[in-house]
Amino acid sequence: MTENIAIITEAINARENAQAPYSKFRVGAALLTDTGKIIHGANVESASYGLSCCAERIAIFKALTEGHTVFSALAIASPGGAAPCGACRQIIAEYAPKADILLVDADNPNSIHKTTISTLLPLQFTANNLPSN
Ligand code: THU
Repeated sequence: MTENIAIITEAINARENAQAPYSKFRVGAALLTDTGKIIHGANVESASYGLSCCAERIAIFKALTEGHTVFSALAIASPGGAAPCGACRQIIAEYAPKADILLVDADNPNSIHKTTISTLLPLQFTANNLPSN
């Protein structure tokens, strides 16, 4: 729980590096690894809007490519404490299935909604659905 408080603060701070000139909706993410390391992410938007990437996926992709593969918690800070989009839910289901998910209202950091990916994304499509060949 102490670690969860740390990642809540770090997710809020990660918003400072968001590149959100189009939506102005700044999102920060902080991912806690099984070794206690915290990996940050923030949303990055493109002038070609569809290329934009959410904070959660950036944090997960950064972590994976730095050699971290097991995660115990993910804090996501945004105005109003928004829940992750469908694309991010799929990536969380595949790469951070055990993580506590903490949705943080950046304007009211005491307001935390704790959930899991099973709640956010029931009936998941994962590698288990693929035929082994
Ligand atoms: N966004 C995130 O980074 N995470 C979410 O959970 C929801 C949406 C970003 C994508 C885009 O840069 C902006 O917020 C508005 O949709």
